[in-house]
Amino acid sequence: MTRKKRVFDTEKRIRLGIWGLGRGLSFYRTCPFLNIDVVAGCDYNEHMRRRFQEMNPGAFVTDNDEEFLRQDFDAVLLATYCPNHGRDAIRCLRAGKHVLSEVTAFFTMAEGVQLVEEVEKSGLVYNLAENYPFSAANMYLARKWREGLFGELMYAEYEYVHEIRYLSYTHIDRVPVQPGWTVHAWRSWLNYHYYCTHSLGPVMVITGTRPIRVVSLPGRQYLAGYLAAKSAGMGAVAPSLISMSNGGLMRNLMGATTNDSHIQRLWGTLGAAEIIPEVGLQLRLGGSGGSPKLVVNPAWDELGELAARTGHGGGDFWVLYYFARQILTGQPAPFDIYAAADVTIPGILAFRSARENGKAYDVPDFRDKKQRDLWRHDTWAQQPYDVKSGVFPPDADRCLTGQFTTVMRDLIDASLQCRAYFDWGKVKKDLAEPEKYQEIVKKTAAQADSIVETYRKARRMVDAYPESDGARVLREMLELGKEEVVTSPSFLRKLKRQLHRPGRRKNRQ
Ligand SMILES: NC(=O)c1ccc[n+]([C@@H]2O[C@H](COP(=O)([O-])OP(=O)(O)OC[C@H]3O[C@@H](n4cnc5c(N)ncnc54)[C@H](O)[C@@H]3O)[C@@H](O)[C@H]2O)c1
Repeated sequence: MTRKKRVFDTEKRIRLGIWGLGRGLSFYRTCPFLNIDVVAGCDYNEHMRRRFQEMNPGAFVTDNDEEFLRQDFDAVLLATYCPNHGRDAIRCLRAGKHVLSEVTAFFTMAEGVQLVEEVEKSGLVYNLAENYPFSAANMYLARKWREGLFGELMYAEYEYVHEIRYLSYTHIDRVPVQPGWTVHAWRSWLNYHYYCTHSLGPVMVITGTRPIRVVSLPGRQYLAGYLAAKSAGMGAVAPSLISMSNGGLMRNLMGATTNDSHIQRLWGTLGAAEIIPEVGLQLRLGGSGGSPKLVVNPAWDELGELAARTGHGGGDFWVLYYFARQILTGQPAPFDIYAAADVTIPGILAFRSARENGKAYDVPDFRDKKQRDLWRHDTWAQQPYDVKSGVFPPDADRCLTGQFTTVMRDLIDASLQCRAYFDWGKVKKDLAEPEKYQEIVKKTAAQADSIVETYRKARRMVDAYPESDGARVLREMLELGKEEVVTSPSFLRKLKRQLHRPGRRKNRQ
């Protein structure tokens, strides 16, 4: 992208502060095209502030949010901790700044009511940075849906199935959380239902409907290595069923599983669409279940080409574009505060529904004050995990437990690598491309020494504080990665033998 390109026909500039410099930094490259100058940044993390300063020399940077909000600028890109977005957005509005808030908008229903009313009172622009509706395929579907190609929404299945175990222990850039005996402020415990916007958002935008009722059932299976998994963290599945305002239904699936997937399917009364990442966008048009099903190329316009070169398939560009456009021209963005509430509330209520064994909830429309009044004092929320002192006993040796987040990050990589080696070994004879197995063997062999070292460090911590939550997750990962086998002297010998054995030839037909 070059600086010359110009999107808005105005000389007006927007002075932007970025609050939260992990995810927050994904946006800054797009700013010059959208009349935005990044003039301030704020983060608790020193290494993030340093990187921000390198990328934005001359910008003000601090770890102190009050000092940040006192600076003279127009708007905040809010990318702080997910459950804090509501209260942090309110602080920005009170400081007189427009807000582009990362997902989700708020954590409790009461906070949602307060945020809506704060936005109304302020007269400032508030947008939610829900970016998944603005991929080429989803924007194409939205255009065709508006033209009536698909008829009425009958049913949709959108999902955000993303296993991000290491993020319980590191920042988004894989740098371990410090001090090392503490864990990530919310990814270590927040139930996946809360993170409902990347799958619900696209369905809302494409079909022009809003959610009106939600229900969910509790599951009891979870993956190894998730701290708050047993009390429902981000290590389990979180499916809910949602009634949409036109009478259609949607299955909204979030969660961590052993198969990340972003398959998206829409069924209208006249036609259907399916996005499978490996295949692309397919439509079935002709009004019946067996009508022709063909792949289409969802073309971008010129601005889309610019968008496509930024993050999340162009989505990051579009949310920043809509926000700047609303500030500069007054034209509303798709995710104003009311749409932000529509897309956030079903997550809060789905989690509550699952906790109450499947009790269905109506999704209030916060445009209506009477409906807001019903939830004004509702502070029901998931109990946060004690991220500062929950992992190890208070008198634990800090020299040892200070290594926990680093060891856990490395152990996750190590044990998953070993597990892949062992499990693919069980089906290697059936592989269509046997050389792929050799690649796994090679990678495991290359890392063998550091894998064993990581296992030993983890074992020391487990043995020192066996009853702690920290020991539990370390143990789970050691078990998953077959500690006993991997740390036995014969393991390396076997690996090396395999490495030097030629791969099986492909069967001739
Ligand atoms: N839309 C997307 O595709 C997408 C992708 C990644 C993350 N996100 C969202 O963006 C947000 C930020 O993501 P992240 O991965 O960087 O998460 P994070 O929670 O690790 O980062 C928040 C950052 O804000 C800083 N911070 C929080 N409160 C602060 C305060 N009061 N003062 C100073 N610094 C403060 C923290 O130090 C941290 O670096 C999350 O809510 C996440 O849901 C969205």
